[in-house]
Amino acid sequence: MAKTYNNNFTDELRQRLSIVDVISRRVPLTKKGQNFWGCCPFHSEKTPSFSVSEDKGFYHCFGCGEHGDIISFTMKSENVDFKTAIRELADMAGIKVPEYKPKDAATVAREESYVKITDDAATAFQKKLFEPAGTHALEYIRGRGFTDEMIKKYRLGYAPKNNLISGTFTNVKPDALIATGLVRRGDYGLYDFFRDKLMFPIFNAHGQVVAFSGRSLDGSEPKYINTTDTEMFHKRQTIFGFNFAREAIHRANRSIVVEGQIDAIQMQCNGFGETVAPLGTALTEDHIALLCKANRNITFCFDGDAAGQKAAVRACNIVLPFLRDNSDVRFAFVTGGKDPDEVLKTGGAIAMRKIIDGATPIIDFLWDTTNKSYLISTPGGRTQAEKFLKSQIEKITDIEFRREIENEYNSRKFNQWHKWKKNADTTPAVDLPAVDDITKNTLIYIVAHFPDVVEKYGDFLSSLNIDFDTDAGAELKFDAMAAERYVVSLKLQRYIQKLNNDKKAAVQSMLAGDVGAGALVDKINVDIATANDKLEQLLNADL
Ligand code: UTP
Ligand code: MN
Repeated sequence: MAKTYNNNFTDELRQRLSIVDVISRRVPLTKKGQNFWGCCPFHSEKTPSFSVSEDKGFYHCFGCGEHGDIISFTMKSENVDFKTAIRELADMAGIKVPEYKPKDAATVAREESYVKITDDAATAFQKKLFEPAGTHALEYIRGRGFTDEMIKKYRLGYAPKNNLISGTFTNVKPDALIATGLVRRGDYGLYDFFRDKLMFPIFNAHGQVVAFSGRSLDGSEPKYINTTDTEMFHKRQTIFGFNFAREAIHRANRSIVVEGQIDAIQMQCNGFGETVAPLGTALTEDHIALLCKANRNITFCFDGDAAGQKAAVRACNIVLPFLRDNSDVRFAFVTGGKDPDEVLKTGGAIAMRKIIDGATPIIDFLWDTTNKSYLISTPGGRTQAEKFLKSQIEKITDIEFRREIENEYNSRKFNQWHKWKKNADTTPAVDLPAVDDITKNTLIYIVAHFPDVVEKYGDFLSSLNIDFDTDAGAELKFDAMAAERYVVSLKLQRYIQKLNNDKKAAVQSMLAGDVGAGALVDKINVDIATANDKLEQLLNADL
């Protein structure tokens, strides 16, 4: 979350690290109900009375009464001081320990004044929305299906064309106003950053307004502008809607991530309280870390366009290091509308539920993405695909889980990529005879004169092993259509020859006692009849 109010480095550690991960390095834990349980490392016992709560970030021993968080656990279990514990945990989280600076009174005062200004600003914007100046904004947001109740809950407002904040917050020091990002200093004095915008307050995890997102109302670009980063607001660490979604994320035991803030609000108000959205910027590691603190079950719901596909691949990349054997991470793509907001409007919660329930598990999503991105019918494509898959799997930190996933993909590679090999192994190879000289010369003539036919039937023609780089020896009276018909009929004839060969082999296995071969003979007979019909039709066509 944002570097909020009384946030500091220890908070960041608690946020970044899962207490279950930290403790299970020393104490084997098993999940029972909401909590994890193990034998207490602080007193000797045989039956587990040491409980760890991932949600709360605390451990508690019902035997000896020890309790605390990741920091006290590290200090006690390793018998080290606070500073050492912090350093160790920072290593584990892969972040640097900042120089220790206790928050001085001035900082605290500054932060308090910041939140007071942003909260007052939100109130001022809220008021403006219902004044004549804000009519077009109010009409707009009502038109998008927002009830007054929703407008109130999310504290939507209107920033007028003139300088509301710099003009009326005159009892606040200019530097304090500027620090919130609401006001800027120009050549002619202070001016407001947000003007003629529909205002969405951005709340921190504690529900305090720390920034704003303003939507343009006259169709001008960009569609949204957000407060640029400030001391109290870091866009990369802030997820829109999280303060409202928190409870629901615990209750539903998962979070849903959508692309836009209006989508997030509509989702929250239509039965998907666990929905959040990143702010403008793409999803970051910090966003995922924040969600994973509650649980590691995330359903990403992207727009059905190309940008959504791209964002999904990116999100997959970011979420992989957070995967555990009990995570349930899925990818859904919006259909029947451009985004969740539209789906809710046209198909309601039922249509949306269908999309969410039909989401693809990350393992399948990654497999599908790989298959879509490379030409796996070729050895080179398969090599690239393998390299890509490997680079993705390597991100999974849980070694045993990673190994299991490797096994899974290996089996898919064998069954899906190399299926052709397996078929080739089971079919007895019966070679067809080479084509006769007249046919050969005809084909050489066709190849030399009808590039379109070559383009269309190249695979078949090259399978005949003819040296096309020679002279046909005769001028033939063929047009393109006749040439094509010639090639197709030859292809059919050879196909029928092959079927007859197959049939011979099947009859032999039937005689040798293979029970299944009878059905195969029947099937081949049907195929032969069909192919003969086609051949006849072709030869009779416009003669
Ligand atoms: P979209 O372009 O999908 O807009 O951006 P949207 O959500 O459909 O917008 P509405 O529904 O017309 O209002 C998705 C999200 O990307 C961010 C916003 O957070 C938006 O909700 N965004 C988009 C920006 O920050 N700036 C932009 O210019 C556009
Ligand atoms: Mn939208």
